[in-house]
Amino acid sequence: MIAVEGVYRMDGDLVRLPEIVAIKRRFDAVLLVDEVHSLGVVGETGRGVAEKFGVERSDAELWMGTLSKSWASCGGYLAGARGF
Ligand SMILES: Cc1ncc(COP(=O)(O)O)c(C=O)c1O
Repeated sequence: MIAVEGVYRMDGDLVRLPEIVAIKRRFDAVLLVDEVHSLGVVGETGRGVAEKFGVERSDAELWMGTLSKSWASCGGYLAGARGF
């Protein structure tokens, strides 16, 4: 399993998602993208790193985020495709 963040909050580094997806495919791994700090602020309409890099949602098995940052609320989500 490969787990990455969309944005690493300490330095603001962005994940190099297309490269990570290529590595994931090479090793037939499961990819989890934590968008806690990227959802709402990254991508043309704030939809996160998939939008920014033009990566298909189906290229990662798991996407997670929180509603406590850019959404200024509470709660979160963990979403993925069935049966990966
Ligand atoms: C990378 C990462 N994932 C998940 C969380 C959890 O978010 P929450 O504060 O909504 O529990 C945090 C919290 O800052 C985080 O930094």
